Amino acid sequence: MEKKTTPKKNAAKNLAELFEDSLQDMFWAEQAILKGLDKMKVNATSSKLQKAIEKHHGETQQQLELLERVFESLELPAKGKKCEAMAGILEEGNTILKETEEGAVRDSGIIAACQKVEHYEIATYGTLIAYAKTLKYDEASKILMEILEQEKKTDEDLSKLATSEINGKADA
Ligand SMILES: [Fe+2]
Ligand SMILES: [Fe+2]
Repeated sequence: MEKKTTPKKNAAKNLAELFEDSLQDMFWAEQAILKGLDKMKVNATSSKLQKAIEKHHGETQQQLELLERVFESLELPAKGKKCEAMAGILEEGNTILKETEEGAVRDSGIIAACQKVEHYEIATYGTLIAYAKTLKYDEASKILMEILEQEKKTDEDLSKLATSEINGKADA
């Protein structure tokens, strides 16, 4: 029989603390994603894919500044906390690189890996925005929506690139 989990000492006691925890996770995650994107770009063959990754690398750098503004708007210190989920998703991305030959097949794998990152980001920013709305964190909510839009657009662009050409090439 499973037993109920005992919370650790500094466990979140309210929505504001849960928000802060999750914000710290994303602050760590975005920094880890920067490194992950660098690795994906080096391993990509398609110049369109390289460009898409480079573009999102720039956006991710901006997002870190936007997250700092979110912390600032709430008078909280900007600090990161290891996000185990993102660490795992990025680790799986590394595995995909090892499991694919260079070229279109690896490019398809890279897109899949990047989209898993985006989907996790979309889920988490969606949750953060919902919390921010309940907590009446208006400025934070506005900034987080800006980030969420970039993540969604990136996901769509990657889908288009995969289905319009890269997956087809990988099938050759
Ligand atoms: Fe991001
Ligand atoms: Fe992203």
